[in-house]
Amino acid sequence: MDAQEEAREFRRLGHDVIERLATYFETVDEQPVFPNVDPDALARLFSGGVPRSGRGADEVLATLDEKLFPYCTHTGSGGYMGLITASPLPIGVIGDLIASALNQNLGAYSIGPAAVALERQTVRWLCELSGYGAGAGGNLTSGGMTANLIGLKLARDFASGERAQVGGVNGAFAVYTSEERHVSIDKAADVVGLGRESLRTLPTDDDYRLRLDALQAALEADRAAGVTPACIVAMAGSTNTGAVDDLVALRAIADEHGMWLHADAAYGGGLLLSQRWKDTLRGIELADSITIDPHKWFYAPVDAGALLVRDETALTRSFGQKPSYLKDEFDDAGTRYQYYVHGLEQSRRFRGLKVWMSLERYGADELGRQVDANVEQARHLWQRALEHPRFEPAVEPPMSAICLRYLPERALPNTALALLHHRVVERIERAGEFWIGTTRMKERTWFRACPVNFRTTLGHMDRLLNALEETAREVEEELA
Ligand SMILES: Cc1ncc(COP(=O)(O)O)c(C=O)c1O
Repeated sequence: MDAQEEAREFRRLGHDVIERLATYFETVDEQPVFPNVDPDALARLFSGGVPRSGRGADEVLATLDEKLFPYCTHTGSGGYMGLITASPLPIGVIGDLIASALNQNLGAYSIGPAAVALERQTVRWLCELSGYGAGAGGNLTSGGMTANLIGLKLARDFASGERAQVGGVNGAFAVYTSEERHVSIDKAADVVGLGRESLRTLPTDDDYRLRLDALQAALEADRAAGVTPACIVAMAGSTNTGAVDDLVALRAIADEHGMWLHADAAYGGGLLLSQRWKDTLRGIELADSITIDPHKWFYAPVDAGALLVRDETALTRSFGQKPSYLKDEFDDAGTRYQYYVHGLEQSRRFRGLKVWMSLERYGADELGRQVDANVEQARHLWQRALEHPRFEPAVEPPMSAICLRYLPERALPNTALALLHHRVVERIERAGEFWIGTTRMKERTWFRACPVNFRTTLGHMDRLLNALEETAREVEEELA
């Protein structure tokens, strides 16, 4: 490969691709949100073996025109309100492009000095927004799953008196969380060796918040059985409804029992940008660790999660090994920050750049106004559903996630009602203007919509409710 030739090709393709992507952003709302395509047909499109010889870059791009672009889910479309993935800010997309080109590897200072400093500033900003003081720190991660995993690892190490890192898990520990936790908590309990049976998944109240009486009862039962309470995982914005547990009360209970408090604000962390709703997360700064996903409600392209810690030395105690091949010969003064000593991952992408660029470009307040607009959209849909004889909303939305269910004219058994909801979202997906999901809460099936999207408007919410009503009536008749 000729370096000059590569650079020329990059310039030419780059202009072309950016031009197309700009048009894509301008027209994303005109396309069906989800492609009508058979998964087997897609698998056939990508079924060939390893190419032994290459072809022209234009040809490769033309193949994407044929095989990739027509079959994407347009998360940037205002009608996308599904599994929490944001409309990506174009400045963040540029950030990702630059990050790939510079290929700074954040694990070690020697592979990205300025990138490490920029990423540390980004982490400090997230800590500041969370209300953490000096001494806080964190890691940017692939997402909430990894951030929650690191949070549980810190909790486990803390509960074991910093022994589990070396000696493994000895004895019985319990982790307390609500039935509305994200499944990443179950996976994390497994991966850090506590096991899923160590999870006490406790009932919630009518607002889907962890019931403190149930927590106290579980703690008493565990104490009596000789189980050590290790950690509370509080929801600071549940996936289904944006429920926020009583963080202040949970801090007091955690202290009483010597437990770690982890707050999962993977989704809800966006409210830290809001001037209007930030009190919803009152007490989040009391948590020992916090998960926040900028790739959710900070409108960053995937991937950008974050695990923040009130005392960043916890990360070093948990992960601080230094093998000889990573030793930095030039760091006698100890001023080169080595992420690999203070976190799980070593090689990793320069995730901070897109988050940093978005905050520099718009400022926290402007992003916060967009977050407020998404909350207003959810509340608008909630209000309309409340007034509608055929819909029941689950709860007044504290964030942008909203669950509602259809009430048929004639009562249907639960299984038929669940089927109705599933069929409706299938048809909504096929119709192309929206993508929403379903969920189960308290033995009931609900429609679930969650705009984290700067193209969504109140009009989308009105049209969504109309589409839901029309489609549900149709399905109801078929099921009768
Ligand atoms: C509350 C909560 N925690 C954790 C996660 C997992 O985050 P990720 O998909 O970024 O791994 C999600 C994802 O939606 C979530 O809603």
